[in-house]
Amino acid sequence: MEPRDLLIHVLRDQLRRTGSHIGCETSHCGACTVDFNGESVKSCTLFAVQAQDAEVMTVEGLATNGELHPLQQAFMDEHGLQCGYCTPGMLMRSYRLLQENPDPSESEIREGISGNLCRCTGYQNIVKSIQTAAAVINKSGRDEAKSA
Ligand code: FES
Ligand code: FES
Repeated sequence: MEPRDLLIHVLRDQLRRTGSHIGCETSHCGACTVDFNGESVKSCTLFAVQAQDAEVMTVEGLATNGELHPLQQAFMDEHGLQCGYCTPGMLMRSYRLLQENPDPSESEIREGISGNLCRCTGYQNIVKSIQTAAAVINKSGRDEAKSA
């Protein structure tokens, strides 16, 4: 690894985590968004060396034991994607958004994903997907609390 290597390139080319996409490489599109020490970060804006000792989660980390994360399921069910190019970044951004605000309003969702661009969907179904996922996550939390 060279000191000039960007995080997105190391993730994709060396670690083979190819779920994160490269769109603009200029921090505009959000296709490369990953979770970095509990924050959404566009991985084309960081050098890989800056990630040393950091906790980085890519879209590959969302599913558990082969089971889709509620966000992934909701994007599928609510048609939150078309070509899918923006989707890994959208999912990772939405993941952090729901961690920070488990019950966001529509405008909070729209603002939350404003750094992620989609050329296909018109955003309507992406917002719906995030709302659906939030409801599923919140309900399962309540169910778990009830059975505890
Ligand atoms: S590829 Fe990183 S923001 Fe577009
Ligand atoms: S689904 Fe095609 S860019 Fe978003």
